[in-house]
Amino acid sequence: MCAAGIWAYTGGMNPKAFELLKHYIEFGDEDAENLRSLGEEARGLIPEVVEQFYGRILADAEAMQVFTGGEAQIARQRDVMRGWLEDVFCGEYGTEYVKKRTEIGHAHVRVGLPQHYMFTAMEIVWRVFFDRLAGDSTDANRNRQLSSLHGLLMLDLAIMLASYQESYTEQVRRRERSAVEEKLTRAEHLAEIGQLAASLAHEIKNPLAGISGAIQIIQDAMRDDDPHRPIISEVIGQIHRLDATVKDLLLYARPIPPQATSFPLANIAARVLSILREEPAMLRIRTEFDPGPVGATIHADEAQIEHLLMNLILNAAQASPAGGIVRTRVEVHDREWLRFVVEDHGVGMAPEVRDRAFEAFFTTKAKGTGLGLSICRKIVDAHNGTIWLDSERDRGTTVMVDLPRNKIKDDFE
Ligand code: HEM
Ligand SMILES: Nc1ncnc2c1ncn2[C@@H]1O[C@H](COP(=O)(O)OP(=O)(O)O)[C@@H](O)[C@H]1O
Ligand SMILES: [Mg+2]
Repeated sequence: MCAAGIWAYTGGMNPKAFELLKHYIEFGDEDAENLRSLGEEARGLIPEVVEQFYGRILADAEAMQVFTGGEAQIARQRDVMRGWLEDVFCGEYGTEYVKKRTEIGHAHVRVGLPQHYMFTAMEIVWRVFFDRLAGDSTDANRNRQLSSLHGLLMLDLAIMLASYQESYTEQVRRRERSAVEEKLTRAEHLAEIGQLAASLAHEIKNPLAGISGAIQIIQDAMRDDDPHRPIISEVIGQIHRLDATVKDLLLYARPIPPQATSFPLANIAARVLSILREEPAMLRIRTEFDPGPVGATIHADEAQIEHLLMNLILNAAQASPAGGIVRTRVEVHDREWLRFVVEDHGVGMAPEVRDRAFEAFFTTKAKGTGLGLSICRKIVDAHNGTIWLDSERDRGTTVMVDLPRNKIKDDFE
């Protein structure tokens, strides 16, 4: 049998599909016989085919790129090609033949040869045989032999393309798999950060509270004209910053399920503004708050809603020019939903910032954590709401949050 050899069969054209293809182009025993009978004469042309074949490759810079092993590799390939051509005329085109030929497509994918070369390369092979063997076109037997040769070359092309396709499919699969793995590693990584942040926050929080209390006592005991007052204020400011950062990280990495209670919206802004009062950005701007209809309430996690508004108002203040105004309002459109709107006329966002603003760790600020808006989104998601924004460079930003007034997600993790 001419197609014997140690060939690993790794998918590609399946022998059964090959039989169907042969049937499809009506390639049968007669064609096999035609090729066998053509063999003697055709084999004499193999050196010329190989010459032509490699002559064209050597003249094509792109094709040559796949030969990274220099002359030695090309010499080896000439032998491989000779063997391949011998098999064309072996007269047996069954399972062994398909298996042996299936590896070829894989080899070409491996070396990075674009698939379209297969068609033109096959054309070169065909032309040499045709030019030398066609001769007298009235020779019916010769025409049948050539027709069989053409049929087989097309079948070979089909086998090679099936292997190409398989290799590409495998590549895509591998890429998808690694994307999933990457996501998993990211999730594990985040879980680890979560644990680390939780323990770190715990370690930091208590001493921080102690320091804060002690400093407060010192400040209270100070005379108004004490020259150390500004230093103490600075220390308090830094303590607040540290406290906020730790809280942010903790909230981001380990969101706590909302503990919903019904509470009025009227004085929520006052509390938020009082928490933020030490923030330098807040000292430069004015704030306005419209609590919506008298007596409006919401069923939600109060601390989380405070945190949400705090982040939004702080962002707005940081984006605003000195003397700018940040407006926050509650709009109640119906019984089920309410909307928080936080509006500033500050620097606004370029489209590329707007696209990434909710991404964790994305920040354009020197001292930003990039967690503010991603925490907001988590809180809003946990309350079954939506958050989105409108922003234009140099015009300002409006952030809108729609929240259901009575329902919150119960499957929050
Ligand atoms: C009718 C078209 C072609 C046929 C029948 C053919 C045949 C083969 C065969 C039988 C192999 C060995 C497969 C293996 O290692 O398992 C191979 C490998 C290879 N072919 Fe082709 N080939 C064709 C077109 C091309 C073209 C157009 C190029 C370059 C432009 C090319 C470059 C290569 C290279 C670089 C290898 C790998 C060599 C190595 O592993 O050292 N082939 N080809
Ligand atoms: N009101 C706003 N005006 C302009 N840009 C904003 C506003 N709010 C958020 N951004 C942009 O979105 C980025 C991400 O915000 P955020 O998640 O709160 O993180 P951080 O405030 O720590 O940077 C900010 O760095 C800023 O570029
Ligand atoms: Mg922020």
